[in-house]
Amino acid sequence: MARVPRALTIAGSDSGGGAGIEADLKTFAALGVYGMAAVTSITAQNTREVRAVHDVPPEIVASQIEAVVEDIGVDAAKTGMLSNAGIIEVVGKLLRKYDFPLVVDPVMVAKSGASLLRPDAVEALGKYILPRAFLVTPNRMEAERLSGLAIRHVNDAKAAAKKISDEYGANAVIVKGGHIAGEFSVDVLYVEGKFREFSAPRIEGCFHGTGCSFSAAIAAMIARGHGLEDAIEEAKRHITGAIRYGHKVGGGHCPVNPMASLEPDAERWRVIQNVKRAVVLLKRYGRAVAPHVPEVHMNVVMALPWPYADDVGSVAGVVGRISRARDTIRVNGPIAFGASRHLARAVLTAMRHDARYRAALNALYSKEIIDRAASLGLKVSFYDRREEPPHLKSVEGGTVGWGVETAIKRIGAVPDVIYHEGDWGKEPMINVFGVDAVDAATKLLRLIGVHIGRGPGR
Ligand SMILES: Nc1ncnc2c1ncn2[C@@H]1O[C@H](COP(=O)(O)OP(=O)(O)OP(=O)(O)O)[C@@H](O)[C@H]1O
Ligand SMILES: [Mg+2]
Repeated sequence: MARVPRALTIAGSDSGGGAGIEADLKTFAALGVYGMAAVTSITAQNTREVRAVHDVPPEIVASQIEAVVEDIGVDAAKTGMLSNAGIIEVVGKLLRKYDFPLVVDPVMVAKSGASLLRPDAVEALGKYILPRAFLVTPNRMEAERLSGLAIRHVNDAKAAAKKISDEYGANAVIVKGGHIAGEFSVDVLYVEGKFREFSAPRIEGCFHGTGCSFSAAIAAMIARGHGLEDAIEEAKRHITGAIRYGHKVGGGHCPVNPMASLEPDAERWRVIQNVKRAVVLLKRYGRAVAPHVPEVHMNVVMALPWPYADDVGSVAGVVGRISRARDTIRVNGPIAFGASRHLARAVLTAMRHDARYRAALNALYSKEIIDRAASLGLKVSFYDRREEPPHLKSVEGGTVGWGVETAIKRIGAVPDVIYHEGDWGKEPMINVFGVDAVDAATKLLRLIGVHIGRGPGR
């Protein structure tokens, strides 16, 4: 019978939610694994500092592990902060009774610099935990401490990984590259006498919890049945997204976003559904809309939420746009991401000022529409294409970005309607902005005097 993969984290709690069991459980959930937690230590922590540490008695740590193993079962586990020699010894001895794969993140120091492992505990880690490890995941400083080798380059990391595996009898060791300088962040795996590198471009982002979320992701993928190298590959992809789309909270080291490998896909579905509903709405009032469809056709687009909206590929619209067809409108293709470049750029520009405005559509300009916008209490702004700096005209999409930017700056907010009155060979046009595509379509219908009955609300 198919059942959900189960993973256990044995680690400390980070009250700030960015690292520790909090990061581990979010990672398990995001990767489709049922997560369980045995808390070793309670830290009073935020993105800036660790204020207090209160260790859980070793027998209570052991009791948490036994409780879940005996009832729920464990397909893979990880350890994080183990805090002191007493906890390490009890946990190490207990884990020897079970045979599930164990990922050991030998956490010693928090991102803020605070020590998370008492000095006497390093020895205990080597004696009781590392020999039981399926994989050990030290960062540069931890690998230096465990191996006694200085690490400056990938080659040093290789030597350290091998030495840690040989010396402590760990099945496999991956020395992480976050703190090893270079254009790429390279993690070096040593397993069964061989090395393998896992590399990703070094990026900007959020780093609180990288180590926790990375080792949790490896444990999650092992729980799902992946082999070691496959699991690491998936975890590497996971952590790179989690760093890139990190949560910009707090005044210190901002936390990684373990949902980054799940959320964009879920949001893609929501966006497609919303644009579909907007298109249905426009079609329902097709006769009223048709006269407002410009020569270049109409489109209605919606972006993924911030921070996932980073290029035109993260904005969905109608492929082939919406055109006039006799006295109504025709939708020329399916709804897809990357279908629009022009309007997509308008939305991305608006989102940089106010991330709530994720959708837009375009229609033919008319003075009546602008007058009605004012009477409906909508925010209106404009730009004059003839004032565009010439060097932008030759840049693909330059005009849109500049125009929307200019119109937003003019009123100090993202307007509901931006218009321009045309230029040589360019039709006068309006862009209607909304929090979603249905919102933008509804605004257009009100602007052209359609009375929308109770129907497809938002
Ligand atoms: N700037 C970066 N760009 C891309 N990947 C990175 C970056 N920094 C770290 N990583 C990756 O994140 C993962 C965690 O590595 P890191 O060396 O930061 O762990 P850590 O120091 O234990 O983290 P923590 O301090 O959260 O415990 C590794 O896969 C590493 O390659
Ligand atoms: Mg770490």
